[in-house]
Amino acid sequence: MENLQTQGIALPRLGLGTFRMQGDACRAAVESALALGYRHLDTAEMYGNEEAIGAAIAALRVARKDLHVTTKVWNENLAPEAIRRAFDASLKKLRLDQVDLYLVHWPAPNMNLPAMFETLMKLQQEGRTRAIGVANFNIALLKTVVEDIKAPIACNQVEYHVMLDQTKLRQYLTAKSIPLVAYCPLAKGGVASEEVLMAIGRKHDATAAQVALKWLLDQDGVAAIPKASRAESQKVNLDALKLRLDDDDRKAIAALPKHKRCVNPAFGPAWD
Ligand SMILES: NC(=O)c1ccc[n+]([C@@H]2O[C@H](COP(=O)([O-])OP(=O)(O)OC[C@H]3O[C@@H](n4cnc5c(N)ncnc54)[C@H](OP(=O)(O)O)[C@@H]3O)[C@@H](O)[C@H]2O)c1
Repeated sequence: MENLQTQGIALPRLGLGTFRMQGDACRAAVESALALGYRHLDTAEMYGNEEAIGAAIAALRVARKDLHVTTKVWNENLAPEAIRRAFDASLKKLRLDQVDLYLVHWPAPNMNLPAMFETLMKLQQEGRTRAIGVANFNIALLKTVVEDIKAPIACNQVEYHVMLDQTKLRQYLTAKSIPLVAYCPLAKGGVASEEVLMAIGRKHDATAAQVALKWLLDQDGVAAIPKASRAESQKVNLDALKLRLDDDDRKAIAALPKHKRCVNPAFGPAWD
């Protein structure tokens, strides 16, 4: 599995998303993913599944240095002492001494960015998280974090897939050498029945989901974290890495409508 090097960590470019998987079903899905070779797990305190993921990690015994675990602090816990409490709880549930990446899950309207990042950077200095980062930050927020606060963020995790344009955000992130981790890379499963992707898939003996994933992973500085509860889909998604898209495929994908946003809560930031 290819990695993205960022702020001292090696982030496997294809990870397993775990939102809406909980309890034994989540544990089984993560165990199957680890057995198949996934080495990047994406969770969050808000998903309510860190305990299940911790149990799966303990059961599979993948060498800790070979496993990347991301978790996130919810946007109601962004005061310094709340971040610490949330972080301690996450680590305990995951049964880990350290996570690889700790993200701010969503910006909040009343957040104190300098105080937040001072706390996150302390957690990093203490060796409790190897790197820190953000999710759902727009360009204006990123500028404050990167250019004013100078926080060493290792990624911005945002929605990105064949049906959503992220050109402007990517340009900013690329200029600052910050990877984009694509969430909802399958548009919540919507790509599977997209005719253009299905036709490209037929040409290469692949599925539409594989086409959508490979399109993302062919882009510099992009990682993707599809969620798949079934071992069959997990394997299909891993096998997407072997697919070779050509210029005609990329042209056809470029022509798809690009304004389908699957995740747009009222508390989210203005996206441009
Ligand atoms: N930072 C954030 O705010 C944020 C927001 C949203 C998501 N995320 C992260 O990103 C991850 C992925 O996003 P997501 O779960 O919302 O959506 P997604 O990964 O785009 O899509 C997941 C859906 O696609 C299905 N699927 C998986 N592999 C498939 C395949 N090969 N063929 C057809 N269908 C397939 C899954 O099936 P099953 O139902 O059978 O598993 C599930 O219904 C999340 O799990 C989470 O870790 C982060």
